[in-house]
Amino acid sequence: MTTFDSDWLTLREAYDHAARNTKVLERVGLWAQAYDRLQVVDLGAGTGSTLRAVAPVLGSGQSWRLIEHDPSLIEAGEARLADTACTWRYERLNLRDDLEAAIDDAQIVTASALVDLVSAEWLEELAALVDRRNCALYVALSYDGRMRWRPGDPFDVEIKSLFDRHQQNDKGIGSPALGPGAARTLEAHFGDAGVIGRSDWRLRPIDRPIQTALLRGHASAASEIAADRSREIEDWRIRRQLWIDTGRSMALVGHRDFLKLPG
Ligand SMILES: C[S@@+](CC[C@H](N)C(=O)[O-])C[C@H]1O[C@@H](n2cnc3c(N)ncnc32)[C@H](O)[C@@H]1O
Repeated sequence: MTTFDSDWLTLREAYDHAARNTKVLERVGLWAQAYDRLQVVDLGAGTGSTLRAVAPVLGSGQSWRLIEHDPSLIEAGEARLADTACTWRYERLNLRDDLEAAIDDAQIVTASALVDLVSAEWLEELAALVDRRNCALYVALSYDGRMRWRPGDPFDVEIKSLFDRHQQNDKGIGSPALGPGAARTLEAHFGDAGVIGRSDWRLRPIDRPIQTALLRGHASAASEIAADRSREIEDWRIRRQLWIDTGRSMALVGHRDFLKLPG
């Protein structure tokens, strides 16, 4: 199982919230106005970032089931959500085996930063369940394969290719994981039926902690794929880290948000 560090989720949350596509989010809010009570199911909830981003556009009758398999993230999330006004509860389920039970009573299924971890078959199953239940589906912050560092380094292209290969390793929700093909595959399932918008991270020179964490993550993923090139990869990391430390580095990570409303 791939584990996600609570500190990493906390670090990325502000960037995720800023990047979330406002047009797509507004459509969620408009759609929700027709409901006095709304059952939301968030898949791969982590510490509750999606609830914190989306609850403000939903009405007063919203109730959330937060699906997560990692007990340490559930504990951290319960602490962070303690003062939240809407109704919520975590449910410890494994999305690989328990997807149908997870979305059982959903009127809207949400997920953020999740579908690059899943396989095409799993996504197909989710799409079929959502169609059968005739509920809404709002999937945000899916990696779309665009990743750029500035200033450019000759080794960036090689690292990106190794990173994208690593993204497709089994993350515990089907294999191969969609990785850079996540947004494209999701949109292909629903054809023209969805609302789509970009939600890129645009990291500025002052965003040093997240750039540093991203850089470490990319170097370590690349080394796992090409252990024999660890020296070159570490040299690349050191060069880029110097640009981050001296306030010269910028990065773009391409994401897409997607909303499918019931027919
Ligand atoms: C990249 S994190 C995103 C977390 C959260 N949605 C956010 O935006 O901060 C992916 C989440 O999916 C959860 N996850 C991964 N595999 C899972 C599985 N098989 N069953 C349930 N949750 C899973 C992870 O524990 C993690 O919380």
